[in-house]
Amino acid sequence: MRHAECGMRNEIGAARGVFTVTDETSKEHSEFPGPPSDAQAGAGRIPNSALRHTPVLLREVLEWLAPKPNMTIVDCTMGGGGHSAAIVPRLMPDGRLIAMDCDEQALEAAKARLVEFAPKVAYVHRNFRDLPTVLAQLGCARIGGLLADLGMSSLQLDDPQRGFSFSREGPLDMRLDLRQPMTATSLIRQSSQRQLVDLFRDYGEERWAERIARRIVETRKRQPLDTTLQLARLVEEAVPRGASRRIHPATRIFQALRIAVNDELGALRELLSVLPDILAPGGRAAILTFHSLEDRLVKQAFRQGAQAGRLRVLTKKPVRPSAEEAAANPRSRSAKLRAAERP
Ligand SMILES: C[S@@+](CC[C@H](N)C(=O)[O-])C[C@H]1O[C@@H](n2cnc3c(N)ncnc32)[C@H](O)[C@@H]1O
Repeated sequence: MRHAECGMRNEIGAARGVFTVTDETSKEHSEFPGPPSDAQAGAGRIPNSALRHTPVLLREVLEWLAPKPNMTIVDCTMGGGGHSAAIVPRLMPDGRLIAMDCDEQALEAAKARLVEFAPKVAYVHRNFRDLPTVLAQLGCARIGGLLADLGMSSLQLDDPQRGFSFSREGPLDMRLDLRQPMTATSLIRQSSQRQLVDLFRDYGEERWAERIARRIVETRKRQPLDTTLQLARLVEEAVPRGASRRIHPATRIFQALRIAVNDELGALRELLSVLPDILAPGGRAAILTFHSLEDRLVKQAFRQGAQAGRLRVLTKKPVRPSAEEAAANPRSRSAKLRAAERP
């Protein structure tokens, strides 16, 4: 039996607003059409923005995470609240959901979706790398389960102002957390040619990293490089014509910049390193990744945890979406789900 050994303080029940606990490839970067229409989204009840993101591998996440009545579960990546909306009812009557996201807009959209469970949900506007601090501040010793569905949501990708999309004009921003100072524009401006090459190779596994970095450095001497389409066109021009591509030439460059701007791998490493300490005995972690860099980190951390006798790996192989899910939701195509349990 899994215990949610989490004696939450009162704040959690009172958390009506976003709770900012104080202190201050692969999916690669794939782009697919499509928010639902207002009719599909159930106009008038839940904001369309929250429903724009279809939760990936939802049935499988529920199966492996196995939320049960009275547990405390952390959703580290609330996004549109799709997974959480299915998890919270299973925690009733006395369970709790700690809903985290470093993007305040995502939390706000998801809040409307979970309005009927408001007293049972604590919304925390923080990076999941800070989870141990957040749990301590909530007076929560151990949790019954943890979900991390990595990367960005459709809400973010589809909003041109966020700068994640290479097919929509917008500022080259790419911050998940709008409180942080560094954007993709400032990263490009500050990096040397060598640093750009390394970044595109390490985080994008980009074959034409040298050519693209050189073109960026030449261009930025003449003009500011600060919009998405400007960068997408530059990459298209830098890559040799006829180079075989299954994906848009800018895909891997946008992925690499997004990973670097948000230090996505650093945050994931920190989260993985504390898993065995924050899970209650029998507590489970389910992690959804969308490119090989993330999946490798999860696989290694689970394996090391198992070797140390601190985790039990539940998924011998990563769980992948069915052909039906991949067809219905192209964004799910590169998803891999791994789950582990604290013995
Ligand atoms: C793929 S979406 C989650 C979608 C959600 N599971 C759903 O079903 O609607 C990923 C979310 O995680 C957030 N995120 C990514 N990295 C994060 C981090 N290190 N800390 C907190 N939130 C993060 C993003 O802002 C985004 O809203």
